[in-house]
Amino acid sequence: MSLTNVILISKNKNMSTKFLNIKWISRRLRYLILNPRYFYLYFYGKPETVFSALTDLPEGHYYKLREELDSDPNFTEELRKKTIKFMNVDFSLNMDHYFLYSLVRTIKPSVILETGVFHGYYTACFLKGIYDNYRDGSVEGKLISIDLPAYESISESTTESPHMTHLPSGSEPGWVIPDYLRDRWQLNIGDSRELLPEVLEREKNISLFFHDSLHTYSHMMYEFEKVYPVLNHGSYLMTHDVHWNHAFRHFVKRHGQKDFSFHGFGISRKIINNLPL
Ligand SMILES: C[S@@+](CC[C@H](N)C(=O)[O-])C[C@H]1O[C@@H](n2cnc3c(N)ncnc32)[C@H](O)[C@@H]1O
Repeated sequence: MSLTNVILISKNKNMSTKFLNIKWISRRLRYLILNPRYFYLYFYGKPETVFSALTDLPEGHYYKLREELDSDPNFTEELRKKTIKFMNVDFSLNMDHYFLYSLVRTIKPSVILETGVFHGYYTACFLKGIYDNYRDGSVEGKLISIDLPAYESISESTTESPHMTHLPSGSEPGWVIPDYLRDRWQLNIGDSRELLPEVLEREKNISLFFHDSLHTYSHMMYEFEKVYPVLNHGSYLMTHDVHWNHAFRHFVKRHGQKDFSFHGFGISRKIINNLPL
């Protein structure tokens, strides 16, 4: 759930005002006071600037990849149709989707690991990037996801999602993902605390880890610390809802890494002993 969404929701008298509860406001106010830099980056951080800083490529490269995603209207249209059918709301791509797609198209990962699928919008963007990387012959990648299905709302995870706080009735995690993207997707159902160790035992070549499951401090820190040793020099570690607590900031500080942020994302690259990339 983004702050922008909350403002929009609060303006819409037909929408529930449950998101504007005291707990929600006080948590963000606390965050603002304790960490103004991230709060600033939430509103003023730009995906193209972060993309360029992370990849050492000009911002123009990001714009080109954004256009590339737009040039395939079928992808957006499928997400849109399913969103209208299952949630009765419209859908269009936003900066989050463009960024995830562009990053995958640029770093061309052979393995992406993600926790927290829910409806599957971000998962679809990763898979679309992997699909296009395969189609242009650059790499045969795959996405491994872990998700504890939200058949009912899960506190500190889905309760602030903008439209539905649980999966639509009768649907499974990732219901929005177009069928043609599913070949390179491995979904593991369960708690990431239980499943991460066994997945990490098998997968040693993860170029991008993305957290979007349970946003408590201890759970986020658990995932970051569990995955970090397996990441290679130059690999990316990313989180959504970075502003829910201080886990990401504390984590990057502990490991002496640089952190980047825009909107609700926190991103870092694992750099070992200042070695060049
Ligand atoms: C914020 S939503 C993810 C949104 C998703 N990235 C998207 O683009 O639609 C969080 C997801 O993590 C799942 N989840 C919650 N606790 C979890 C846990 N302990 N392990 C794995 N997944 C969990 C929830 O059921 C939900 O599907």
